[in-house]
Amino acid sequence: MSLFSFKSKSKIGVDIGTASIKIVELTKEGGRFKLGNYSLFELESDDRVAIKQERRSDKIVQLSDGDIVWGIKEALKRARINTKDVVASIPSFLTFATVVKMPFIPEKDVAQTIKFEARKYIPLPLNEVVLDWSILNIATDKKKEPEEKKGDEDESEETKKSKPLSEETGQPTSLEVFLAAVPKDETVRYQSIMKRAGLTLRALELENSALTRAIVGNDLSPVAIINIGGRSTSILIVDKGIERISHNYEVGGFEITKSIAESLKIGLKRAEELKRSFGLRQEENNVISKAMSSLIDRMGFEANRTISGYELKHGTKIGKVILVGGLVNMPNFVAYFKQKMGREVAIGNPMARVSAPPEIEKINAELNSTFAIAIGLAMRNI
Ligand SMILES: Nc1ncnc2c1ncn2[C@@H]1O[C@H](COP(=O)(O)OP(=O)(O)OP(=O)(O)O)[C@@H](O)[C@H]1O
Ligand SMILES: [Mg+2]
Repeated sequence: MSLFSFKSKSKIGVDIGTASIKIVELTKEGGRFKLGNYSLFELESDDRVAIKQERRSDKIVQLSDGDIVWGIKEALKRARINTKDVVASIPSFLTFATVVKMPFIPEKDVAQTIKFEARKYIPLPLNEVVLDWSILNIATDKKKEPEEKKGDEDESEETKKSKPLSEETGQPTSLEVFLAAVPKDETVRYQSIMKRAGLTLRALELENSALTRAIVGNDLSPVAIINIGGRSTSILIVDKGIERISHNYEVGGFEITKSIAESLKIGLKRAEELKRSFGLRQEENNVISKAMSSLIDRMGFEANRTISGYELKHGTKIGKVILVGGLVNMPNFVAYFKQKMGREVAIGNPMARVSAPPEIEKINAELNSTFAIAIGLAMRNI
């Protein structure tokens, strides 16, 4: 799923988060991805360009475009990245994505009909958005109708991609179409940010699509991916290679740092250091762990609720829960989360299908999962 794209070879994936900018350079050689340079540029909690707080609500607000441009340039300079072609991700809170189910029509007519359908789902005038769509499934009268319906109230953003068309014969009866829309302003804004950073935006992609490509690959079994970033935690369920559900939970690493700072009456910078050095280590009197455990327990609870709901509804079992995002690098996080969820969990390894040449310093194993979206973006065929 991309909102626009052109052909290219070596490229960089750029994931602009609220806590850090991740850039990965990949080249495709003989059908295999080869790692080039990479860069993680963290925005410190009390830097001038850092996460800013709205005075009243204490919520994280977006960095200014100028700060982002500066951060990207710094990241490129530090890692000596020269590739100019970029695939960037657009965070889910800036996009509208849904699955539309409609009576079967020939593929050539979908483009026209989907515009009409889009009016029902997208709360902006169509001339103000860039629309993209792809057919997910064609149900036939020989086949049981797919059970998912669009727009479950608590499945605010059922997202899907790719194109596994039904292989069964029979008369086609209905279509499931993944529909995404990004405000034109945002696509223009991203193009301008990249241009100001000396780069060329070749494609803009939804975060979850990049994550699925990097983590799931061709695996058809149901997988849950939990991405814990600075601003928020997202829970994504991918089944048969298709994004099924995506929930966003507005608590991330920043909220956790803040709770440590408040509870210990210390500054954000010190709280961040303590979070990283002590984390959830099982030690007597780990006051850091105590200060944040209720927030982490809540993340586990939310993730479990989404996963169990999906399992129940679809009569399936999600065997794999994969963790990505900066926060999962916290000491003892995986063991703690596993126990809270009562499920097998593992840290995602987006480097599994990427070879790292000896001259390139390997991405520190601990950072692998932080780069998941950037790697998925750079893997995109453009
Ligand atoms: N070793 C570590 N221990 C604990 N927390 C860490 C560690 N490394 C990074 N983090 C935390 O991870 C968070 C950043 O993760 P990430 O880089 O995935 O976020 P982001 O993509 O910038 O944010 P978002 O996607 O929510 O906008 C920060 O809150 C940071 O404090
Ligand atoms: Mg992120």
